[in-house]
Amino acid sequence: MVKTVVISLDSVYYIRDQKPILSDINWEVKKGEHWCLLGLNGSGKTTLLNLICGYFWPSKGTISVLGHQYGRVDLRELRKQIGWVSSSLIERIHGTETAEKVVLSGKFASIGIYDSYTKEDLSEAKELMHFLGCAHLVNRSYQTLSQGEKQRIMIARALMSKPNLLILDEPCIGLDLFAREQVLRTIEQIASQPEAPTLIYVTHHIEEILPCFTHTFFLKKGRSFQQGETKQLFQSPILSDFFNLPVKVEEKHDRYFLSFDQKGPGFAQTLLKSITK
Ligand SMILES: Nc1ncnc2c1ncn2[C@@H]1O[C@H](COP(=O)(O)OP(=O)(O)OP(=O)(O)O)[C@@H](O)[C@H]1O
Ligand SMILES: [Mg+2]
Repeated sequence: MVKTVVISLDSVYYIRDQKPILSDINWEVKKGEHWCLLGLNGSGKTTLLNLICGYFWPSKGTISVLGHQYGRVDLRELRKQIGWVSSSLIERIHGTETAEKVVLSGKFASIGIYDSYTKEDLSEAKELMHFLGCAHLVNRSYQTLSQGEKQRIMIARALMSKPNLLILDEPCIGLDLFAREQVLRTIEQIASQPEAPTLIYVTHHIEEILPCFTHTFFLKKGRSFQQGETKQLFQSPILSDFFNLPVKVEEKHDRYFLSFDQKGPGFAQTLLKSITK
């Protein structure tokens, strides 16, 4: 059976002020796969997500998402099928809004609620908050929530429109170990649902890569470094090459952990070289 293509990027370039931010990106995400997008600061991850959601336009190349080629589709309609959780969105939410209203606003893909909602919408929001373990926060004002609680509310908000594609741009940023694991458990639960959306998870941190992320895309300085099955790629030589630094990858309980395979007085110098390389 041929698998449906969810995202397809063909020779995509994104150039700003004559500087290529993304170059020659080819990427295909199929239904049933969940991808992790991994890259250091400034490698172009958020830019790539903005292209996928149609907020940025490629300088060259073609993009298709959920079977629609950009340029031939109403992006506002298509975006209703895409959930996006990012820290920039978290900051834009009106702080005085209740957690429940923030979740409800996901139905309209808006910041704040300007349309009328139904009883069904309200019970859907409550159900999602229950699923995400934050039902007790319904009447709390958003600004009084902790970072981890905000993240879970934002994931519930993104699920409100029943997206076919769910993009999570560093959802565990700023979370302590336990809050991070709670968010990760939730993501695992979402992935295990029969009608789960395709997940794209962006991170710098290898230990956040859950077993449900069948595939990984390594982005390095705006170019595709490697992409494929996570299990095949998480090898010390591949990651050492990716980071320009000898690192050791270890697998434990289906998760990956990274350590530096070097120490001593020359190490600081090596680190600096790998960043500037
Ligand atoms: N409008 C712009 N004009 C010029 N340069 C830009 C513009 N937007 C982004 N960049 C640059 O493009 C590069 C990629 O940025 P992007 O935000 O996509 O990286 P990222 O991988 O998401 O990084 P981080 O992990 O820090 O979030 C950075 O060097 C950034 O400074
Ligand atoms: Mg980013």
